[in-house]
Amino acid sequence: MQLPLKLERQSSQTLQSQIFEQIRSLILSGKLRPGMPIPATRSLSEQLGVSRNTVLLAYERLIAEDYLQTQEAIGTYVNFHLPTDSLVLKTSIQSPVFSKKPPIKRHPVLFQGRAQKLINPQQNQFTVDFRVGRLDPHSFPVKIWRRLLLRHLSSGGANLTEYRNPSGMEALRKAIVNHLGPARGIAVTPDQVIVVSGSQQALNIVSRLLINQGTRVVTECPCYQGAAYVFESYGAQLHPVPVDQYGLQVLKLPSTPASLAYVTPSHQYPMGSTLSLKRRVQLLDWAGRVGAYLIEDDYDSDFRHNGSPLTALAGLDPYGCVIYMGTVSKSIGAGLRLGYVVVPTELVEPARTVKALLDSGNPWLDQAVLADFISSGNYAKHLRQIRRIYLHRRDCLIAALKLHFGDVQLSGLDGGMHIVWHLPSNFPTAIEMQTLAQEVGVGIYTLERGGAYDYGYTEHSERTLILGYSSVPEIQICEAIARVAKAMDR
Ligand SMILES: Cc1ncc(COP(=O)(O)O)c(C=O)c1O
Repeated sequence: MQLPLKLERQSSQTLQSQIFEQIRSLILSGKLRPGMPIPATRSLSEQLGVSRNTVLLAYERLIAEDYLQTQEAIGTYVNFHLPTDSLVLKTSIQSPVFSKKPPIKRHPVLFQGRAQKLINPQQNQFTVDFRVGRLDPHSFPVKIWRRLLLRHLSSGGANLTEYRNPSGMEALRKAIVNHLGPARGIAVTPDQVIVVSGSQQALNIVSRLLINQGTRVVTECPCYQGAAYVFESYGAQLHPVPVDQYGLQVLKLPSTPASLAYVTPSHQYPMGSTLSLKRRVQLLDWAGRVGAYLIEDDYDSDFRHNGSPLTALAGLDPYGCVIYMGTVSKSIGAGLRLGYVVVPTELVEPARTVKALLDSGNPWLDQAVLADFISSGNYAKHLRQIRRIYLHRRDCLIAALKLHFGDVQLSGLDGGMHIVWHLPSNFPTAIEMQTLAQEVGVGIYTLERGGAYDYGYTEHSERTLILGYSSVPEIQICEAIARVAKAMDR
């Protein structure tokens, strides 16, 4: 660490006392905080071009006045207990570097936006949390990941030190293409794939390409908060289209031009429906007719519990209008911040440019490990394992709700990682149920609190709860639902 000290050689003040006062100012102004290490005398003397003895004497004085402490094996650091009488900066210690400047009228912050609520600030209060889209930390493939990580770390060479293709590592893009063919019926080339830091970044890249102030963007209603908020932040004019048990109501799409529509056909977020094949074809025809691009967010399509998965929109697309987004956040872990976007050929170059401008590409090591994980067959094996676990947890949650609440109306059961509970009119509202469960340490969520965006209000807002089951072991599911039922009885 280098300290921002500036010595005045012409000053009447000695160099030693300038060092003393400037370090003291840094401490008193909070720029050097208690416990922070201070450079060794040798390195500070080299930095400042003064003798080591000058620095040593300044340090000795700071130690004597309790600003610094020193300990063998640790070195010198800012004292945890600063002298209280010196907490106010005295005018005598102001130097040219720290002198007060007149207040500056700054340019206003131009960005306007809100952030999606992915982290629950109350989650530590819950003994059992049915938050949507969460993975069980025990399901992370630690052993294999560690092995692959060490292997690529040892052999990474220049990949660890050089910039690489901002679109992502070729081996990973090939592995993704090979996965998408059989799993989602999508035939594309690795060139069309851009590795991103989660779907959230893909949404930003696409928005940068296609949205400016007033651009019309269609979304499902309700939809995923993270998507609606991104579009909004780029100035989009959002156009909600309602969903029912078959997904987006395509006959309610606007007949006037729209640049973009954002959809979750596999497992509508948050309502859980699957877009029927008929509607998929109608949606593609609509996009072809009005000249819109479709963003297909396939966030949790790896988990199909009943029947075979339908071919993705991107696999049915005759117009070359689908932008397909995938993520490992729901299959391996959101902490990896890895995903991909597959773009139509005319968007490849502009999307690669935006990605380069954003971050010059994802970290190489993570990409190498994921590429190996997928192409070695470990990803498919991992998916098979967690699919089985999620299916058991889903069944357990359904059984527990039926046992304690009778003939419950549920939807979104065929796939994904959460179910939707439609509360009857003789039940408390969704917000009341959420509060009631919270009081007994159980997290269940309304649409808004569960990361959905309902444009302020929909017919579902008041009487819909969403419950994620993927991160909760069966024994806890049964016990927690019993607890909520008991609280409701009371
Ligand atoms: C519908 C939907 N899409 C995308 C995401 C975010 O994915 P990522 O972590 O890849 O940004 C989520 C996260 O919960 C989601 O629910």
